[in-house]
Amino acid sequence: MKVVDLRSDTVTLPTPAMRQAMYEAEVGDDVMGEDPTINRLESLAAEMMGKEAALFVASGTMGNLVSILTHCQRGDEVIMGDRAHTFFFEVGAASVFGGLQVHTVPNELDGMLDPRNVLDAIRGGDIHFPPTGLVCLENTQNLCGGCALSPEQMDSVCLPVKERGIPVHLDGARIFNAAVALDVDVKELTSNVDSVMLCLSKGLCAPVGSMVAGSVEFVHRARRQRKMVGGGMRQAGILAAAGIVALTEMVDRLADDHRNARVLAEGLRDLKGISLNLHGVQTNMVFFNLVADGVTPLELSAALQSEGIKVGHHAGNLFRAVMHDGIEEEDVQRVVETFRRILSGKA
Ligand SMILES: Cc1ncc(COP(=O)(O)O)c(C=O)c1O
Repeated sequence: MKVVDLRSDTVTLPTPAMRQAMYEAEVGDDVMGEDPTINRLESLAAEMMGKEAALFVASGTMGNLVSILTHCQRGDEVIMGDRAHTFFFEVGAASVFGGLQVHTVPNELDGMLDPRNVLDAIRGGDIHFPPTGLVCLENTQNLCGGCALSPEQMDSVCLPVKERGIPVHLDGARIFNAAVALDVDVKELTSNVDSVMLCLSKGLCAPVGSMVAGSVEFVHRARRQRKMVGGGMRQAGILAAAGIVALTEMVDRLADDHRNARVLAEGLRDLKGISLNLHGVQTNMVFFNLVADGVTPLELSAALQSEGIKVGHHAGNLFRAVMHDGIEEEDVQRVVETFRRILSGKA
């Protein structure tokens, strides 16, 4: 029985083309700037993001941390959404390593931050206040259903924030999902941020790695922060080789994941015992609530697992299913039918 693992797009495996590229990768000492494959990946990522330079880092969490540490001084405040991955799931790293305070503003249902709330959160010069060092955005917004913020939405926050002299960092772990869903060049989403982190190891299937892109000066300083947090790797061109395949061959196929997410969402929405907002399904994620009386979330997860289906169970009755490479439409149909069978008579 094929296991259909929808817990995350991080479960994706390197493709045969990636394994081949990794095998053949030309490598050197990247801390000395001498790994040709990493240098190639960094140039490629910078060009795709419309930035001057880029830096290969071990993970999305490291990329966000390195970016935040590069923008901010100890004691600064960082404004971000109250559903931001960086606030929820990155172990409080900005506070732990940077001595920074996080100031959250509410994420709207579609992941958007109301620009008025962001501007209100920027501190004035009163000596009681910590200075505002940075505003962070996220696109797609994971905990808001994987919604994609449009270029206009991005700019409506970025432009007034930059006018106030505050830099903007974008957690673009799934920025290509946003670009594909909106049918725009990814540069339209990054043009007004000062730095962007993007992940190679989620829907793009690379085994390891993320990129941080920004100005030459920013990336130069970020390189020092990466070294400080232990992210200076040596012959890591072996990993970068897979990253190059991720950026050159794996972006367009994200549209398949979005289509499958839609199929799953439409199938689940019709089931008694499931509550799902179809409008919130814009990319590769499907969030839904279990509202059946006769089955608990744990029982549902266990029943699905015994049928070879894994979905993410978040807090309370909330579940998340994420589409990715290797999940076909027939797998999605099987998932819907399995839910139907398990929930029948339980609603
Ligand atoms: C929006 C977002 N940002 C950052 C990360 C962190 O990436 P990593 O797991 O590579 O540290 C994730 C991981 O799922 C994410 O969803």
